[in-house]
Amino acid sequence: MKKPSHPEPVASLPEVRYPREQIPSIRRVMMPRDTNAFGTIFGGVILSEIDLAAAVEAHRHHSGRLVTVALDGVVFRAPVHVGDLVSFFTETVRIGRTSIRVKIRVWAEGRFSSRSPVFVTEAEATMVAVDEQGAKVPIGPR
Ligand SMILES: CC(C)(COP(=O)(O)OP(=O)(O)OC[C@H]1O[C@@H](n2cnc3c(N)ncnc32)[C@H](O)[C@@H]1OP(=O)(O)O)[C@@H](O)C(=O)NCCC(=O)NCCS
Repeated sequence: MKKPSHPEPVASLPEVRYPREQIPSIRRVMMPRDTNAFGTIFGGVILSEIDLAAAVEAHRHHSGRLVTVALDGVVFRAPVHVGDLVSFFTETVRIGRTSIRVKIRVWAEGRFSSRSPVFVTEAEATMVAVDEQGAKVPIGPR
């Protein structure tokens, strides 16, 4: 039987620098309603905001409907806490015929502490332009 290949451990992932000069597509303070059963922030909340941030970025290139076809590469490197200000920085990676690929990087900073922002995760989302019936359509100019 083929041995399963393990992903790279978090500790060996490359370092990422806080993009001070960039304006995030979304910024949000985490609230108690965003927590999991252990009191830290539920990963699904972050994933949902990643999806929204990708849509904000993709809509810079296409004003019609966009749906998410893929969300790749999410590895959570650090926990997020209630009261943290979480920033979702985005960058368009590729504009295809019907799709737009967006990189999203997530940083958290404690609003009531002086610690520097912590890199939480990154992802690549692919959004596809669709019509009212949900059929793919070419990416159009805004
Ligand atoms: C998005 C959707 C309309 C695409 O239809 P499709 O006929 O399967 O489309 P294709 O396979 O031709 O791919 C369309 C584009 O998406 C890209 N794409 C498709 N699958 C992909 C994947 N797994 N990863 C990255 N890109 C992908 C293709 O490369 C293509 O891009 P291009 O035209 O810019 O070259 C269809 O799959 C769909 O409706 N999916 C559900 C979307 C949704 O509801 N999302 C929310 C889930 S709750």
